[in-house]
Parts: sequence; C-alpha cells; structure tokens
Amino acid sequence: MVQVEGLAKHYGETHVFRDVSLSIRRGEFVAVVGESGVGKSTLLNCLAGLDTWDAGRILFEGQDLAGLDDAGRALLRRERVGFVFQAFHVLPHLDVAQNVGLPLLLRGRPDTARVEAMLEDVGLGGLGARLPQQLSGGQLQRVAIARALVHAPPLLLADEPTGNLDPRTAEQVMDLLVAQTRTRQAALVLVTHSATAAARADRVLHLSADGIGAD
Ligand SMILES: Nc1ncnc2c1ncn2[C@@H]1O[C@H](COP(=O)(O)OP(=O)(O)OP(=O)(O)O)[C@@H](O)[C@H]1O
Ligand SMILES: [Mg+2]
Repeated sequence: MVQVEGLAKHYGETHVFRDVSLSIRRGEFVAVVGESGVGKSTLLNCLAGLDTWDAGRILFEGQDLAGLDDAGRALLRRERVGFVFQAFHVLPHLDVAQNVGLPLLLRGRPDTARVEAMLEDVGLGGLGARLPQQLSGGQLQRVAIARALVHAPPLLLADEPTGNLDPRTAEQVMDLLVAQTRTRQAALVLVTHSATAAARADRVLHLSADGIGAD
C-alpha cells in the first residue's frame, strides 16, 4: 500500500528525521510512537502528500508521490486517504453532519444515511445539526474520526485520535479504526502516545531523529 524509502526532512540546519523507511500493507495496523517533536505528525503529513521532504521517496500503491503535482496529490487524498489530524481541522462554519459528509460531497456522492450511521458509530448520533463550537474537545475529535472514515478510504492516517477521549470512548474509537483495517482491509498508521492504543497494533515503530524501527 505505502512504501517509504530513506525519507529525510529538515528545516534549514535542523534535522527532524533522517533515513526513515517503512512499508505498510493493506489490512495492516502500524502504530508510530516517539517523543514529542520527533516528527510523527510531519511523517503522516508526508505520507498524505501534505508536506515535502528533502531526501528519499514515498510510493503510494506503487506511485511515486513526488511525481504528482498538487492536483494529483489532492485527488489521491480525496479518493484514497482518510486523515484524522492532531488539531482536528473541523470546519467551524459547517455543522457536524456537513463536516462528516464533506469527503462524500467532494466525491460527488453525498449520502446522509451514511453520515448518520457514521455519527452513531462514534457516539454522536443526533448531534449532526450542531456547530463545532457547540461541541466538547472529545466530541470534536470524534467528528474528525467520522469524517476520516466516512468514505471508507484504503489508507487511514490518524494522529493521536484518542488524545482527548476518556478510556471507554477511546476504546470505542480504536474499535472503529481497527475494524476498518480488519473488515475493509485498509492500512492504518496510528500516531499515539497511548500504550493501550499501541498495544492493539500489528507492529509498533519507534520514530527518532536517526530513523524508525521496531519498538
Ligand atoms: N515550519 C517549521 N519550521 C521549523 N521547525 C518546524 C516547523 N514545523 C515543525 N517544526 C519542527 O519539526 C519537529 C517535528 O514536529 P512534529 O509536529 O512532526 O512532531 P511530533 O512528533 O508530531 O510531536 P508531538 O508528539 O508533540 O505531536 C518539531 O521539532 C517542530 O518544532
Ligand atoms: Mg504531532
């Protein structure tokens, strides 16, 4: 599904990471752990074609991401990727249902029943008409998760998706994400500081300035 080869990223003289290589198959759940600031969010952004890198390459379903222009990468994201951002990136002027339905709308396939089912799945049934400012942090996080899953993407990138959730809700969200890999054969890359969440992964990779490897 995704292959990363010798990826390096720096800002000026400061290296974020170097020589990051990993490969993720469909149906596989990989957790990425590492200290704050080590570049986990940056790596996810690179995988989604939202950030650039300085050396190495990323192959997405065999296609070199560097060979795609902005429009090509946007199309790939829209069709193939679900991203749960660390900072949610929920759109403030759209209500909850519109936020969750956005990936379907962008693909020309709006589906209110699917949106409602997704909201039920993340425990937000009946809250579709609320605006984001009327939600708690944990509820917002679940809006972001529902939006990432609504179009059943083959690659799921999730950045601390349970960071704002109580243990029980966190487990429910993890169940949803894991189900996506098991039943739909999606590949899941989950960045987390939670040992409980990482324990459910097929593999745990530790990111450091010098590369990435088994924990
Ligand atoms: N525009 C920028 N200019 C310079 N440095 C940056 C810039 N953006 C990010 N960084 C640095 O890159 C490093 C990696 O940041 P990143 O957000 O990927 O870390 P992270 O591993 O996700 O951390 P956390 O666990 O706190 O979310 C950090 O040290 C950060 O300060
Ligand atoms: Mg981060």
